This record gives sequence, structure tokens and C-alpha cells, in this order.
Amino acid sequence: MEPMPSRVSARVSAISESATLAVDAKAKALKAAGRPVIGFGAGEPDFPTPGYIVEAAQRACEQPRFHKYTPAAGLPELREAIAAKTARDSGYQVEPGQVLVTNGGKQAVYEAFATLLDPGDEVIVPAPYWTTYPEAIALAGGVMRTVVTDEASGYLASVEDLEAARTAATKVLLFVSPSNPTGAVYPPDRVAAIGEWAAQAGLWVVTDEIYEHLVYGAEHHSLPVVVPDLTDTCIVVNGVAKTYAMTGWRVGWMLGPNDVVAAASNLQSHTTSNVANVSQRAALAAVSGDLSAVAGMRAAFDRRRLIMHRMLNEIDGVECLLPEGAFYVFPSVEGLFGRDIGGHRPASSADLAELAIDLAQVAVVPGEAFGAPGYFRMSYALGDDELVEGVSRLADLFSGAG
Ligand SMILES: Cc1ncc(COP(=O)(O)O)c(C=O)c1O
Repeated sequence: MEPMPSRVSARVSAISESATLAVDAKAKALKAAGRPVIGFGAGEPDFPTPGYIVEAAQRACEQPRFHKYTPAAGLPELREAIAAKTARDSGYQVEPGQVLVTNGGKQAVYEAFATLLDPGDEVIVPAPYWTTYPEAIALAGGVMRTVVTDEASGYLASVEDLEAARTAATKVLLFVSPSNPTGAVYPPDRVAAIGEWAAQAGLWVVTDEIYEHLVYGAEHHSLPVVVPDLTDTCIVVNGVAKTYAMTGWRVGWMLGPNDVVAAASNLQSHTTSNVANVSQRAALAAVSGDLSAVAGMRAAFDRRRLIMHRMLNEIDGVECLLPEGAFYVFPSVEGLFGRDIGGHRPASSADLAELAIDLAQVAVVPGEAFGAPGYFRMSYALGDDELVEGVSRLADLFSGAG
């Protein structure tokens, strides 16, 4: 018998659901059904978007010229403001023509790999990694080579690790600092060493700086600023979502050499066209304003980071490194495997995450989603009281008191 033709293409059926969004959706659905769920799944600030940004959008809504298409690559004034903001915040100098405004940092990630990769080109990706990268690389026909890092190295890849993963087919290094999911921040000497290695090896670098302002004591260093030799072979991904509590507005950007940005703009012109005009006006207010709102949010995240780190380490079987950036902790939960938890004997972090939601109504994302089984990713971008209640429930569950 002839095999049934597949209804969905091989390319798209290979994409898995975003584990982080799935955990968040499950938590929100249970909450809506009246269950007292505490969600550590979502990577979004619990704060509202600052008022001056919302007001800019309201003003834009009232003006018919902002009801129209903009150029696919974004409003010229926004591209200019992003270039100015980048020079102010990281010291990286780009022309407005090197800025492409995208539907969130996520579209910038997708477009970066789609623009750089031919089938079979390899991308070196340090693990644990954010769930979207493997899918974006695979959709572009690329092949991911992971470099595993763990607590012992502070979740930082070394030049030796990266070199060991390099082959004749390697085209791109993905470099993310501060990291989702580990919160690791690369120190400047390591940024320099990795950047110099990439430049010497003739690699492209895609560097995701979306958490640049969420650092606690540590400093963010932009790779093409530390290693200017990379400027012609580097794409920077960024956006307003995390810095300005603007996840739902969907504004991000990529910065890159003119030819690559022009090619990515062509791609975007046939897929989504421009980002919502009103959202671009909101983003313009955000990036043109000062950084006082993010300073307030950073102070809250820092406080929660310390509480979370302390409380998790008090649970027998859980070990948690103190993250230096972003708003996630990435504790090891391997010490809980095989224990009796509510009559079950979990054998993986996925099993444990299921017990957490079913028995304690606490949503976490299992490390499997980030190429790191044995861990949980827990966002601390939620209210202090909720956070304490959620970790207390896990402590009770895992100690047998739950
Ligand atoms: C590392 C990283 N990059 C990019 C993004 C994309 O964010 P957005 O598409 O909401 O701008 C996220 C969001 O979770 C992220 O964690």
C-alpha cells in the first residue's frame, strides 16, 4: 500500500511547541478554572508597561497616519532612535540603515538564522539554551552543535569548548549574555576571548542582548564592542519586551551589516511586513526615554532573585547557583530523582515538573526544554508573596509534607 501523503510538511511538523509558552498556557488555564496556580513558567515581567510609553501609544492611536503601514523595516524615526539607544547603552555604533525593527526579538532570531544559513551550515550553541534557537536554526536548514555547560563552569562556555565543536561546516556562533535560562553573565575577559576566537575562525556571531539591562552586580558587555573586528560578521538581537515590561507589544530588532539587514528586511517584507505602527510609536517612547523605569524593576528582580536562591537551596535535593542576570534561576533537581514524592518516584525533571503542577499547583519549565535535563527553569518575574508561596509549596511537596 502507498504510504499516506503527509498533511503537514516535514519541515514544519518537526517544530515542537514552545515548552515555555505551553507551561504558561497550562498555568493560565488552570488559574482561569479557579485553581490557585503559581506560575514560574513565563519569561515576562509582572509589571505593567510604564505610563509614558502607554500614553505615547494612546496618542498614536488617535492619529490616522499611525493607522497605516510603515516601511517593512520600521519607522525611520524608530530605527534612528534604536541606533542612538544602542550607542548610549552598549557603546555599539550603527547607522539607522543597519537596524531592522521586528515582531519581537523572536522574529529577529528567526530572521538572523534564515538570512545567514544555507542547508547544512552549522551553528555552535552553548547549552542550556533558550527553546526558540534550535527551531529557528532547523527551519533555516542549519545544524545545531551544542556545547554543554553546567554549574561547575557557572554555565559559561570556554574557547576550548567552542573550538572542540567547530567543524569545516561551522558558520555561526550563537552568544547569549545574560542567558535565558541560566541567568549567567559572561565577564569581559571571556567575551573578549570568545569574540577574538570567532573573528579568527571567520565565524559569524549572532548575539542576543535582550537582557542587557537586567544584571545584578555584573556588567553586560556587547560582543562587537569588545571585539570590533566582528562588526562586519555580527548580528545583534534585542527588543523592548524585557527592559520595559513590553512583552505583548511585540517590538524587537536586529542590528547587522547593511547587506544582511537589507536581505532580512526583504524576507520580512514578504512575511509579516512592518511591526504594528502603534507599537512602534510605543517603542520609540521607550528607547528615547531614560532608564529609570528599568532601574526600579531591576531592584525588585534583584530582591526576588536572592529570596528565590536562598529558599531553593534550603530544599534538600535542590541546588541552585546564584544567577547574575535576566530573571531566571536554573536549579538542579537531580537530587530528587527516585525519591517518594506524593506516591511517585520521578526519574526526570519533566516528571518532577508534572508532579509540581499536579500536586502543588506550581508551574515550572523542565530543563529538557533547554537541552539540560535534570534542572528546572523558574522565572522570578512574579510578585514577592506569590514567589515565596510557590517555593514553599515545592519545599513541602519535595520534603513529603505537601
Ligand atoms: C533570550 C531571549 N531572546 C529573545 C526573546 C524574545 O523576546 P520577544 O520576542 O518577546 O521580544 C526572549 C524571550 O523570552 C528571550 O528569552
